[in-house]
Amino acid sequence: MYVELSAIEKVYRMSERVEVPALRGIDLSVEKGEFVALVGPSGCGKTTLLSVLGLLTWPTAGTYCLDGCDTRSVSRREQAGLRSELIGFIFQSYNLLARETAWRNVMFPLTFRSQTRGTRKRTAMEALDAVGLADRADHYPSQLSGGEQQRVAVARALVNRPRLLIADEPTGNLDSHTGKEILELIIRLAGEYGTSIVMATHDLTVARRAGRIVSMADGGVVPSEANG
Ligand SMILES: Nc1ncnc2c1ncn2[C@@H]1O[C@H](COP(=O)(O)OP(=O)(O)OP(=O)(O)O)[C@@H](O)[C@H]1O
Ligand SMILES: [Mg+2]
Repeated sequence: MYVELSAIEKVYRMSERVEVPALRGIDLSVEKGEFVALVGPSGCGKTTLLSVLGLLTWPTAGTYCLDGCDTRSVSRREQAGLRSELIGFIFQSYNLLARETAWRNVMFPLTFRSQTRGTRKRTAMEALDAVGLADRADHYPSQLSGGEQQRVAVARALVNRPRLLIADEPTGNLDSHTGKEILELIIRLAGEYGTSIVMATHDLTVARRAGRIVSMADGGVVPSEANG
């Protein structure tokens, strides 16, 4: 089991008296190379669950084992290390650095590697080539279409060949044709690298490409018998 969440709870504490329970007792495991789609109504906790999986948010209770490691037992610093080594992220709004060119955006996750800049640049250029954008390497995000920006984001997310790819509505801002291309690109590259995918989506045609659909409601996972 590559990822194993058990009894994960997340309560956002707004003030002394106001608490928002966003995740209520989530059990979820993901195998190596598996593609899991998370679906469910707005506000059901998909993004919160992805941020727990991505080590961006701390659960209030429960355990999270990643690659055989109980994430509670490592220091914050080590958690940041785990995140940068093992996890890639893709968001709905691309989240590229506006002042950096495409290849520099892709190189960013390699910053902390003990490699020469030349090697890192070559790796970034290969990743851009893999998403079909070698000829756009010197473009800034504002000089790219939405679909191209998301391709750059895919290259950035996978440049490290992470074990786990977290994708939050990666096709949400794209027309259906471009969205499908991005999805197929993600599936192909993740397949080549053996990367597991957990992807939140509102689009059922996207979710149907996953190996497994997990439905959420009100901070919990809907038992699969009820998944219809
Ligand atoms: N930082 C935060 N502080 C307080 N409450 C939050 C925070 N982030 C999310 N919430 C609340 O937690 C619940 C789950 O939110 P989340 O963003 O995980 O939903 P979602 O399923 O991703 O929704 P959408 O489909 O609209 O993206 C919501 O009720 C939301 O208002
Ligand atoms: Mg969300």
